[in-house]
Amino acid sequence: MKQIKKITCIGAGYVGGPTMAVIAQKNPNVEVTVVDLNQARIAAWNDENLENLPVYEPGLDAVVGEARGRNLFFSTEVDKAINEADMIFISVNTPTKTYGKGKGQAADLKFIELCARQIAAVAKEDKIVVEKSTLPVRTAEALKNILENTGNGVNFHILSNPEFLAEGTAVTDLHNPDRVLIGGEDEAAIEALVQVYEAWVPRERILTTNLWSSELSKLVANAFLAQRVSSINAISELCEVTGANVDEVARAIGQDSRIGPKFLKASVGFGGSCFQKDILNLVYIARSYNLTSVADYWEQVILMNDHQKTRFAEKIIQTMYNTVNGKHIAFLGWAFKKDTNDTRESAAIYVADHLLDEEAQVVVYDPKVPAEQIYKDLDYLGTRSPENNRRLVKVVDNPYEALDGAHAAAVLTEWDEFKGYDWAKIKEGMKRPSFVFDGRKLLDRKELNRLGFAYYAIGE
Ligand code: UDX
Ligand code: ADP
Repeated sequence: MKQIKKITCIGAGYVGGPTMAVIAQKNPNVEVTVVDLNQARIAAWNDENLENLPVYEPGLDAVVGEARGRNLFFSTEVDKAINEADMIFISVNTPTKTYGKGKGQAADLKFIELCARQIAAVAKEDKIVVEKSTLPVRTAEALKNILENTGNGVNFHILSNPEFLAEGTAVTDLHNPDRVLIGGEDEAAIEALVQVYEAWVPRERILTTNLWSSELSKLVANAFLAQRVSSINAISELCEVTGANVDEVARAIGQDSRIGPKFLKASVGFGGSCFQKDILNLVYIARSYNLTSVADYWEQVILMNDHQKTRFAEKIIQTMYNTVNGKHIAFLGWAFKKDTNDTRESAAIYVADHLLDEEAQVVVYDPKVPAEQIYKDLDYLGTRSPENNRRLVKVVDNPYEALDGAHAAAVLTEWDEFKGYDWAKIKEGMKRPSFVFDGRKLLDRKELNRLGFAYYAIGE
């Protein structure tokens, strides 16, 4: 079996960057090159100051600091890196299609196809090609077709190796994965990738399957996780009208070892680049095989999530006497969860959009998300002109400034630092009544009530 000496990863994003950094850290004898077309992104990965890495993940700076320049390299020379590698990871983005057939549901595979064509055009020796991006089932087949029909007659072995890391804990998830999944047909190729992971992952946690099982398992894992969040969010609405407390319910059911305690935290709705996209993919695949009941079943997880975001925005409006026109609402958090600067599909975007439709004045503070990203997210919705988004939304880099003079505070992300603020001081600066809408059940109700806030939390 061929020993892997050089790995190239196409795509230096949230998946490719951290995954390759850890593979390089744990395999000092393998040269790992991460390439991307985006020059600014590569420059940021090469920045001397590790605080400027393009992806914020706790612990990532130390891993990159250890391996970069030793056996971890970031480059824009895609062809050269493809040519030199024994193994190529494809880790480019696969957003939901915004046009044509499958619009709003199917994954857009144009970046994957471009990569495949580029690999086929450049490769002069046999390669193992690893799918790392989340893909619809049977993409490997398309990859294989392109590689075999447009290549220079070299052999390509395709493997599926889905990523299960969660943002915000990517480095710990990579260091200590529950399992690594490798799907493929060629035993030698599978074994070559097993060896890369065996450098730090116990063999019994490395599962090997056929290609389709591996691709499907990724979608199903995310669908199950998202389903738990939608299930508890559905119960949160019931709790609000019946007087039960959703955290108490979650604790009570989570102690049942068959249910388990994780992923039962009610929230303003799940976000992130995976959950919605993967479920939409699952729904699309089911529909394309005419499995209507299966498709409808999983689609409900998304519909419930949309409902939760709308419901939160409406709760704010209703509580503030049915009008937020001209009212200053401070948003604490914009990222889709804590400890990441990623905002893809963040609930904050949709809650803001709803309030902006009602002409609220939204002032946003997030510890890691820059103003330009927040405006980009809102402009991308296309709901109103960029000028109007800038007229209605202000982004500040100090939470006290965001809250000063506010009619209401809304917690959208569960950043730890929000708990430690001087809420007595904040109360003095806010309009009365001073509303707090907690979409993450993060703050201390007793304390805020004692300070005189009108406090509302999801599921209470
Ligand atoms: C997810 C999967 O966990 C990971 O395995 C996969 O490979 C990529 O997608 P990620 O999207 O990074 O990871 O974060 P995750 O921790 O799963 O959270 C997703 C969303 O669900 C976040 O918006 C989070 O706030 C929300 N969530 C999660 C809840 O609202 N309640 C919970 O109990 C858990
Ligand atoms: P993910 O969360 O899946 O990692 P990102 O959007 O963070 O997604 O990263 C994907 C990266 O892939 C982007 O930086 C993008 O520039 C890069 N990319 C897309 N297509 C290509 C390509 N053909 N060659 C090189 N890089 C690409």
